[in-house]
Amino acid sequence: MTLIDRYAVFGHPIKHSKSPRIHGLFAEQTEQVLEYTAQDVPAEQFSNRAEKFFAEGGKGLNCTVPLKELAWSYADYRTERAQISKAVNTLALQADGAILGDNTDGIGLVTDLVTNHAIRLSGSRILVLGAGGASRGILAPILEQSPHSLVIANRTADKAIKLAAEFHANGSVIGCGFDGLESRQFDLILNATSASLSGQLPPLPTGLLAEEGCCYDLAYGNEPTAFVRWGLENHAVKSLDGLGMLVEQAAEAFFIWRGVRPRTQPVIALLNAERPLIADYRK
Ligand code: ATR
Repeated sequence: MTLIDRYAVFGHPIKHSKSPRIHGLFAEQTEQVLEYTAQDVPAEQFSNRAEKFFAEGGKGLNCTVPLKELAWSYADYRTERAQISKAVNTLALQADGAILGDNTDGIGLVTDLVTNHAIRLSGSRILVLGAGGASRGILAPILEQSPHSLVIANRTADKAIKLAAEFHANGSVIGCGFDGLESRQFDLILNATSASLSGQLPPLPTGLLAEEGCCYDLAYGNEPTAFVRWGLENHAVKSLDGLGMLVEQAAEAFFIWRGVRPRTQPVIALLNAERPLIADYRK
């Protein structure tokens, strides 16, 4: 009897996750036979549930909020990018039975920016809003693109300063509070705060976005986020949410598990077509 290869996303809450749909579309497109489910897993149950999943023959897991740090600890060993980001969103069973931890969020973001939207990172002045887990996961892949400079601004300035210090070796990066942004200008502003999730916006000075500048919110929804709206109001040439990043990080996880790289464009197009309010806003 051949058992179907099983994958899942663990998170809490998980009800509205698009990951089963995305991986289902990837599997169909690449003619891979697999099952991918979403499972509601609170933090306190994570290690038991992951143990059970792999013991019962599961091949790989995605881990989302609030489990990425726990997944990092759970992995037997980690890729360099996961090691740096201190968070794991992809666990993969290896041939020897060990569990590899990787983080595909940063590469997912960079691919969406550079490949899908032709937004230049090299030589650009980049601002990252927020100094939590989401920011940590994207800093190294962004710095690899050789931006002119990278500023991390956070409500709690101290956290931004400390986070920037950790990445000094990777390039020009400084941290500050939102008040440190007065009279500065950026070509690309990335929102990695969790403010969008509650419809809020960090306090941003006017004139922050350079002419021809772009905005990108790592969060996404069926309507434009508060930050995507801010970008458009501040004349961003592109003001995007994180749906493309979601699909790209999933494609990278799919590749790690299956050794096959799915085409992401048709999946992004399909998911966008199901968000008419976003399409209207972009017109
Ligand atoms: P995540 O893993 O999503 O990054 P996190 O580690 O809890 O979550 O970090 C959340 C980030 O969003 C932090 O940078 C937080 O700022 P503080 O460090 O000052 O708490 C930021 N954040 C959350 N709500 C915010 C708001 N309303 N305005 C500005 N920043 C906010």
